[in-house]
Amino acid sequence: MLLNQSVIELIEKRTSVRTYDKKPVEAEKLAQLKGYFGTAAENPFHAKVRFEMVEGGSGKLGTYGFIKGAKTFFAGCVKKGGMDMEGFGYAFEKAVLFATAQGLGTCWLGGTFKRASFTAILKPDSEFLPAVSPVGYAAEKKTLTEKMVAAGAGARKRKRFGEVFFDGDFKKPLFLEEGPLQKCLEMVRIGPSASNKQPWRVVKRGNTLHFYMAADKLYAGNTLYGFCMQRIDLGIAACHFELTAKELGLPGGIVVADPALADCPDSWTYSFSWR
Ligand SMILES: Cc1cc2nc3c(=O)[nH]c(=O)nc-3n(C[C@H](O)[C@H](O)[C@H](O)COP(=O)(O)O)c2cc1C
Repeated sequence: MLLNQSVIELIEKRTSVRTYDKKPVEAEKLAQLKGYFGTAAENPFHAKVRFEMVEGGSGKLGTYGFIKGAKTFFAGCVKKGGMDMEGFGYAFEKAVLFATAQGLGTCWLGGTFKRASFTAILKPDSEFLPAVSPVGYAAEKKTLTEKMVAAGAGARKRKRFGEVFFDGDFKKPLFLEEGPLQKCLEMVRIGPSASNKQPWRVVKRGNTLHFYMAADKLYAGNTLYGFCMQRIDLGIAACHFELTAKELGLPGGIVVADPALADCPDSWTYSFSWR
């Protein structure tokens, strides 16, 4: 639960908002979101994450026309090393879901924003600044750019359950009856990801779930930002899975222990397990 709202409903409700209404966010709401940053930063990957509110218009800060009308952003930094990107993804998504619970729109931005505008404010120190998000009320009418971006990324489209979740090995699609575990995976499936690539793959072996990242050619070895954008997506998957499990009372927790399974596809990298 976040602000007395079901995390499942918040995950289902969240969508990228790229066009914002003129109505500014009330100061109390921004203070409430800011007050949540410390809790949001906690993550099971031991990554040191911090957030800041950044005041300024989308035009001035620089979002290359992707975001319209936003007046406030939040941005995060993470200390370099270990599972920094997974921890960042987990933490940032918690902040996104909190804003969703406040009735505010957000949009993960990992690429289409002027990093220098934000590093000037957050001043990373042995840290990455992987992403920022506008925060505000969604406008009723979307701009043409938003419609095009959404169509280009196939916005709401997601891979089918059996395409990303596997039973025992890396080939047999997983089928689950409705229930807590199926719901947790469903919340992973509908999560946001960079360019909507949905790199998460899960292999269920007994009561343990192993999460892998299926690297996309576009992102693999991309050194443009100095970090792997798709590892953030795995952090988002961990966040959705764990928050849903807590809500439904499914026992278990996140552990990092590569089972080194045979026949793992070359382009897949082990990330973490749930047991
Ligand atoms: C790590 C990450 C980086 C992203 N970077 C951008 C970005 O730079 N620009 C943008 O317009 N959307 C960005 N997105 C938003 C995705 O395109 C979006 O989440 C995806 O298409 C699914 O659509 P939805 O969020 O509406 O469900 C990013 C999402 C994630 C998770």
